[in-house]
Amino acid sequence: MSGNGHLPSHVAIIMDGNGRWARQRGLVRIRGHKEGIESVREITRECAKRHLKQLTLYAFSQENWKRPKREVNLLMKLLKEFLVKERKEIEENNIRLTAIGRISGLPEDVQRELAISIEESKDNTGMVLCLALNYGGRSEIVDAAKDIAKSVKDGKMDLNEITEETFKKFLYTGEMTDPDLLIRTGGEMRVSNFLLWEISYTELWVTPICWPDFRKEHLEEAMKDYARRERRFGGLQE
Ligand code: FPP
Repeated sequence: MSGNGHLPSHVAIIMDGNGRWARQRGLVRIRGHKEGIESVREITRECAKRHLKQLTLYAFSQENWKRPKREVNLLMKLLKEFLVKERKEIEENNIRLTAIGRISGLPEDVQRELAISIEESKDNTGMVLCLALNYGGRSEIVDAAKDIAKSVKDGKMDLNEITEETFKKFLYTGEMTDPDLLIRTGGEMRVSNFLLWEISYTELWVTPICWPDFRKEHLEEAMKDYARRERRFGGLQE
C-alpha cells in the first residue's frame, strides 16, 4: 500500500467507452465489447508480468441489466467465452481467478464456467484477477450489513465488535486489500457504484482513451503518475 516511487499492488479498472469506440467507427456497440476483450487480455498479462498482487475489473455492473436484452446477452456470451478460452493463459501466468458481485444472479451457464475457472486456478500463487460481475457497491455494503445483523441476531457477534475492520471482512472483498489505484477509461469523472467502501483512499486516474484502445503504454502512464503521488491517508508527510 506504499505510495511515492512505488508500484501499486492492487489496480482496479472501470473499463468504459466500448460503445463510444464502436460508434466512432460506425460499428455496432458489441464490436466495442469484443475489442475490449483484447484490452482485458493485454492488461491482465502486463499486470501479471509486473507482479501486481491484484487486478480488479468492472466487467458487468448491476445497472448494466438496464441495457437492451440483446446487448446483455452478447456481453454474457463474451464473458463465458472469455472464461473458457483464457483458462490456459490464466494457468500459464499463474493467475488466480476470483469474482465479486451477486454471482447467483448471473445466467447459470456463466456461473458454471466461472466456478470451473475459479476452482482450476485456486492454487495459483501469482496475481489475483478479480472480475466484478453483477456488482454494485451499495449492494455490497447492504449484503454485508445483512450478514452482520444475522450474526448479531444469532448471538455469534456482539454489537461492539462491529468496527471498520470487522465490517470489511463481511464485504465481497473481505480477504482482499483495497485498490491502490483506480483507473477509469472513457473520460467520465465518476465512480459508478464501484468498490465504494474500498476506494476511500485509492488514487484515481482517468483517461479519455476508450477501453478498446487502452494498451500497456497507457497502463505504464497511469503507473508512472501513481508513483509520483504522495499518499498520506489523511495524515501528514513523513
Ligand atoms: C463499458 O462500456 C463497458 C462495459 C459495460 C462492459 C465491459 C466488458 C468488457 C470489456 C468485456 C467483457 C469483460 C471481460 C472481463 C471478459 P460502455 O458500453 O458503457 O461504453 P460507452 O460508455 O461508450 O457506451
